[in-house]
Amino acid sequence: MSLAAPRLYLLGTGTVGSVFVDRHARLHANGVALPPLVAIANARGWRDCDATSACDALQTLRASTSPRDAVWLSRTRFGHGDIVVDASASEDLAARHAQWLGDGAHVVTACKLGQGTSLDRWQAIRAAAATSHTQYGDSATVGAGLPVLRSLRELQAGGDRIHAIAGVLSGSLAWLFNHFDGKRPFSGFVREARDAGYTEPDPRDDLSGEDVRRKIVILARAAGVALDAARVQVDSLVPDALAALPAEALDAALPTLDEALRLRYAEAYRNGEVLKFIARLQNGEARVGLEALPADHPLAAGAGTDNRVAIWSDRYCDQPLVIQGPGAGAEVTAAALIDDVLRISAATTSSAFDHVHRQAAA
Ligand SMILES: NC(=O)c1ccc[n+]([C@@H]2O[C@H](COP(=O)([O-])OP(=O)(O)OC[C@H]3O[C@@H](n4cnc5c(N)ncnc54)[C@H](OP(=O)(O)O)[C@@H]3O)[C@@H](O)[C@H]2O)c1
Repeated sequence: MSLAAPRLYLLGTGTVGSVFVDRHARLHANGVALPPLVAIANARGWRDCDATSACDALQTLRASTSPRDAVWLSRTRFGHGDIVVDASASEDLAARHAQWLGDGAHVVTACKLGQGTSLDRWQAIRAAAATSHTQYGDSATVGAGLPVLRSLRELQAGGDRIHAIAGVLSGSLAWLFNHFDGKRPFSGFVREARDAGYTEPDPRDDLSGEDVRRKIVILARAAGVALDAARVQVDSLVPDALAALPAEALDAALPTLDEALRLRYAEAYRNGEVLKFIARLQNGEARVGLEALPADHPLAAGAGTDNRVAIWSDRYCDQPLVIQGPGAGAEVTAAALIDDVLRISAATTSSAFDHVHRQAAA
């Protein structure tokens, strides 16, 4: 067995992928032992590269005017020990995670479509990783690298049982309900959040709660509950009439959100409560939606776009373990991807090293 460093592939050159390449180059220049980036791809093409040409490859791909190119994807096979970073939101790529793991490559992902959708796909990912002794790095999928998934896994590895999880898992919805004051229309805050880049370009993608559904599914599965995404009860903030509108008609119709939310706010205010968009898991059931929380509730605090997650377990029974911090944004997401790459690369290099030494000693 050779001790060659794993080869690193990046799929996705958008907001997160670009920061990833930048951070990789910076850390590499500072002597951090990161595997070399050997190729970068987006939906329009593929470029081989090395440590010195990665930034140029990124820029070329970003500027490409080529049409969508699915050919490289259908032809590409990753090798044993390679690390594939998925910085896309692509269903096509997520559908291949299990295959790559089965082929012997490790997968590190910011995309929630691998573990946060169907039970079959999640089980295929786990089975492929277990059979092929490969690793699936998912720190960037929930909380953008906040130690939430890691804490759930470490608590259980230490014999703890998870009783419940509740959290503010969306940076954009956190921002909206940290700012909404019941005096100015909610639609104005939605426009402000969209213009600041806190929401998706179409804010309905956030307000629908679908992204939060995927996150609570990922957390539930990490907590040992084989939750089906379809079983999560999601109370969307988007009325049916607004959901049905074409994107270009959305802005003018946003005020249809206002009256219902003004009333919810006023009622919560009268009761000394605050509105938060919460995902909950308890007794194997999950739900997502707007809740009025008492002011002293562990999730009632929080500022800006911070995520905040409370975990109740045997150990944290009366008072939950609360993890809070920036849970959105390209910088922290790319950092979480790099952390997973470093962890996998260090683990696989040291196990290969042990293997070579055991063989030499035999
Ligand atoms: N942005 C954030 O702050 C943030 C925070 C947390 C998690 N995330 C997650 O991180 C992921 C990336 O987000 P982003 O904001 O960087 O998205 P983005 O700016 O839209 O970039 C997505 C990239 O994926 C590429 N892509 C799409 N389909 C592909 C395919 N079949 N093969 C190869 N590349 C493909 C796109 O290629 P083209 O350029 O050719 O279209 C694009 O470069 C998403 O899963 C998102 O949910 C993002």
